[in-house]
Amino acid sequence: MLTDRLPRIALGFFPTPLEEMPRLTQALGGPRLFIKRDDQTGLATGGNKTRKLEFAVADALRQGADTLITVGGVQSNHCRQTAAAAARCALRCIVVLRGHAPAAWNGNVLLDHLLGAQLVFSGNRTREQVAEEVAREEQAAGRHPVIIPVGASNEVGAVGFVAAMEELDSQLAERRLRVDRVVFASSSFGTQAGLCVGAKAVGFTGQLAAIAIDSQRSEVQMGVAEIATPTIRRLGLELELRPDEVVAYDGYLGAGYAIMGEPEREAISLVARTEGILLDPVYTGRAMAGLIDLVRNGEFGKEETIVFWHTGGSAALFAYADQLRAGVTHELLSSSSPPMEGQK
Ligand SMILES: Cc1ncc(COP(=O)(O)O)c(C=O)c1O
Repeated sequence: MLTDRLPRIALGFFPTPLEEMPRLTQALGGPRLFIKRDDQTGLATGGNKTRKLEFAVADALRQGADTLITVGGVQSNHCRQTAAAAARCALRCIVVLRGHAPAAWNGNVLLDHLLGAQLVFSGNRTREQVAEEVAREEQAAGRHPVIIPVGASNEVGAVGFVAAMEELDSQLAERRLRVDRVVFASSSFGTQAGLCVGAKAVGFTGQLAAIAIDSQRSEVQMGVAEIATPTIRRLGLELELRPDEVVAYDGYLGAGYAIMGEPEREAISLVARTEGILLDPVYTGRAMAGLIDLVRNGEFGKEETIVFWHTGGSAALFAYADQLRAGVTHELLSSSSPPMEGQK
């Protein structure tokens, strides 16, 4: 394997399943859709960060870490998985979350707390400034903190998605499947950088089509190339990834990061009701909404075979309960009939 030389610890169940989605395919009238279930990595409700953390935490342990510090939004899936990884490795964990303590402790922020992480809110300062300050305090107390960057999106974490691409490639070969595109959410670019490097390394010929969650296309292209270059070096590969080779659709930014709109709600509901699979309001809901729109507007052909990479995040659904329920309640009310005689 491409990543064999690098330190790695086991945190998840791999390979994650690759499943067909026949009912969603039918609902859209094609293309043929598959889903790569990284929501099933097994680490405290799973997600894509498990793959990156297998390498990032191993690297921190190699540096002698006794404390992991990382940063994210209040509903960060990355922080929740880092907290779980720290618990498994008997490390302390401090997560620095953007802004102020929320009014309701649910979803990922509740899980951070249950998993034993210490929570620090950055207030009006940047999360990175606060994380550096926390690291200095830890050092002053005689501890050995290591900061894992947002999303574990650097060359240390991104190799997890190089291994992931190898994993998908061998699943496709086993099933003799040829795939036209792989569609996924991209935000801090580490997932995409790893997939792009892995694709080149294994000779995957399908398109890697990112749905940008919170950046313009040019930012995604630069950000992915910036992580890919040191990732290639770290793996000792003879490759190059230019920004113009990076594919990103930036037409689905909606009202901004973590603001769920009607397209995300429709995508979450459609996938739940056709396939019994839970997406999330911030990343996979938006990425699936993008995929659905690109199918409807003809950019993705109905004769294609497409893999949607489920990167996790369903724990955040509960933080959006009121908005999600608003739509559901409406549908239930409009289709409900009066209770039958004797029905409780
Ligand atoms: C559920 C989920 N999907 C996708 C992403 C995007 O991954 P990346 O930050 O590596 O682009 C994240 C993290 O930000 C996430 O939590």
